[in-house]
Amino acid sequence: MYSDKVMDHFTNPRNVGDMADADGIGEVGNPTCGDAMRIYIKVRDDRITDAKFKTFGCGAAIAVSSMVTEMVKGKTLDEGLAISKEAVASALDGLPAQKMHCSNLGADALKKAIDDYKSRQNKQDPQ
Ligand code: FES
Repeated sequence: MYSDKVMDHFTNPRNVGDMADADGIGEVGNPTCGDAMRIYIKVRDDRITDAKFKTFGCGAAIAVSSMVTEMVKGKTLDEGLAISKEAVASALDGLPAQKMHCSNLGADALKKAIDDYKSRQNKQDPQ
C-alpha cells in the first residue's frame, strides 16, 4: 500500500524537532482526522537554509513532513511556495488515494511558514 520511500521517511523521519530560533512557523491541522503539523524554517538572503517539523499524525503525514523539510532546504522562498502537494506525493513515489489529503498538510504548513516569515519581515521593515 505504501511505497518504500514513504516507509523509509516514516520509520526514519528527517528533520524532526523544534527550532528555537525559527524565522517562520507554519501550523496546520486537519479537522477530519485530527492530525496536526508544524513546520519551522530558517531563512537567509531569501533562501531557506534549514527546516524542521513536529507532526502529530498518521504515518503518511510523518513521511510527508519529512519529505517537505528535505525538499525545501536550499530553495528560495518562491521555489518553496511552488512546492505542491502533488510534488510532495510524487517525491514519495506516490501516496494511496485516501492518503492524498495528508500531503496537503505538508504543502500548506510550508506555505504558512513562508507567509509567517514574510509577515515578520514586513513588521520589522514596513515599506
Ligand atoms: Fe490525517 Fe493523514 S490521516 S493527515
